[in-house]
Amino acid sequence: MRATVLLEEREGRGLSRGDLSLLFRLLSFTKGQIPYLVLSLASMGLATLSTILQPYGLKLIVDRNFVPGRTEGLFINAGVFAAGVIGSMVFGYLQMVSVAALGQRTIHELRKELFEKILRLPMTFFDRTHSGWIVARLVSDVDAVNEMISSGIVSSIADVFLMASIAVVLFLLDAGLFLTLMGTLIILILFVFLLKGKLRAANREVRRATADLTRSLQETVGGLEVVRAFGREEKVLEEFRKVNARYVEGGKRLSKIYSLYFPGVEFLSHFGLALIILVGGYYFRQGSVTLGTLVAFIGYLEKFFGPVRDMTDKVSVLQTALAAAERIFSILDLPPSREFSFRQEKGGISPRGGRGEAVVEMENVTFGYDDEEVLRGLSLKVRRGERVAIVGLTGAGKSTIVNLLLSFYEPWEGEVRIFGHSLSEISPREVREKIAFVPQEPFLFEGTVVENVTGGLPLDEMKLERVLAICDILKDAESTGSVSSRQVGERGLGLSAGERQLVAIARALYRDPELLILDESAAHLDPKSEEKVSRAVRRLLAGRTAIVIAHRLATVSECDRIVVIAGGKVVEEGTHDELLRRDGLYRKLWRLQSMEEKREESER
Ligand SMILES: Nc1ncnc2c1ncn2[C@@H]1O[C@H](COP(=O)(O)OP(=O)(O)OP(=O)(O)O)[C@@H](O)[C@H]1O
Ligand SMILES: [Mg+2]
Repeated sequence: MRATVLLEEREGRGLSRGDLSLLFRLLSFTKGQIPYLVLSLASMGLATLSTILQPYGLKLIVDRNFVPGRTEGLFINAGVFAAGVIGSMVFGYLQMVSVAALGQRTIHELRKELFEKILRLPMTFFDRTHSGWIVARLVSDVDAVNEMISSGIVSSIADVFLMASIAVVLFLLDAGLFLTLMGTLIILILFVFLLKGKLRAANREVRRATADLTRSLQETVGGLEVVRAFGREEKVLEEFRKVNARYVEGGKRLSKIYSLYFPGVEFLSHFGLALIILVGGYYFRQGSVTLGTLVAFIGYLEKFFGPVRDMTDKVSVLQTALAAAERIFSILDLPPSREFSFRQEKGGISPRGGRGEAVVEMENVTFGYDDEEVLRGLSLKVRRGERVAIVGLTGAGKSTIVNLLLSFYEPWEGEVRIFGHSLSEISPREVREKIAFVPQEPFLFEGTVVENVTGGLPLDEMKLERVLAICDILKDAESTGSVSSRQVGERGLGLSAGERQLVAIARALYRDPELLILDESAAHLDPKSEEKVSRAVRRLLAGRTAIVIAHRLATVSECDRIVVIAGGKVVEEGTHDELLRRDGLYRKLWRLQSMEEKREESER
């Protein structure tokens, strides 16, 4: 999958110039948060200064007041130390709070923009992209960026600033001791970078295993019925074990490296401390360094090594976030679906002409999803007030025709006109407003049945009641009571297949559309539900302009004209009786179906 490739490519390489532009682009999302940015930078500077004051205060006390009886200036010296402690606490707090606020607000913007973009992407994007991948962008990638902003980038700047300031102060205090310290520091940095590469590789392995683990879980939970029904538990478990083992392996490697890393850094910083005491003690005995300076040095040492120790973590946060940002921007940069590039809607596309005028015209349409053609020069015309049934074998391209009519996809060749307007010239949103569509697999949202029926349109009690009554979902005295008040679960869970279809039909009726498109479900229902659905369909079709993709004879017989599709083209056309006389594909389909119905009849 393309999306995954992008993810793999990015990991494992160092920072580059492209990363800088990524960073700047991320920063552009903080535009509206200048006050927080200023506050966090200012408190960062002040916190650093306060931190530096602490060891210096100690030095003053040791040098000037560590002799019995010498108390002059003690309060001032102690005050310097105290100011350092209190200042670093107060400004540290301010820095954390403002940086967190900055991060949250930025992330809010970023997530909003990403979600808006995803809503507007063309259908072709969703054909090629795993839904789990999209969810991960919105959740974990945005979080990774958040972590970089709130704990990574500002504190890294703070660390660099702190280390540079300490280095200057140490150099001014005593150049000889400073150079001794630098020696240890170089060894420490070499050690850190040596392990860093290994750490990153192990981290990447764990991350990949986590992603695979999530995907495997998501798929299994989503399709648990099928897994159980087909006894695939063993196989699924086997796959899961493999991924899980990879995860554990990666985790073990990671903890091994970490167990070497932290004691190593600890050892080296203590080695530095010992060196300072040794060399400093010698200077002190020679009289070239005061005891206070020595104490200050030891104090600074602690504050100096901390950031070095955290360096690898910061770099890996930064790299994860940049990889995340790159994926987020790759979505943001995709061109939106056509309807969202229409700046100005024409406003009320008027259905042209009276009865008998063409409402839908498809002219020589050729289209396919990938490279393969599904429709090959198909032409179709539906006039006002006419009900046209489309039939054909499974996979013939019937639902594909609907996808084109609703402008979910654009034809490769040929033209589609609705209400006399070419779809390439008008906004799909305007077209869709006039069309009601009952999909082949009715999709219901979580909520009540009523919410699903009104589907965002204003509530009109009278109309609702009429629609519910027509679809027979107002009351079902025999069994479940009123369906209409029931809560629908995720993906329509909690309703039977027949009830789901009825709700989808009610939704279309409630819109009272100028053009109705019904993609009938091929799923077989029990005779009672079947009859209910057929009755609802009959009432739905009464007096409308409609295109019906029919899988049932009962529905076909409601239509004025039947169009038979095969090989991406219309192969037969006429009324039910005409087509039966012709001895073509339709007759074959019809006979197959009536045979099946007879069989079912006899089984009952
Ligand atoms: N999103 C898609 N991406 C790639 N190929 C697709 C996609 N949707 C459908 N196809 C392919 O296009 C062809 C036509 O599919 P379509 O859904 O239009 O068939 P249909 O006539 O509606 O069949 P059925 O009666 O089973 O509903 C099939 O070969 C199908 O595999
Ligand atoms: Mg279909």
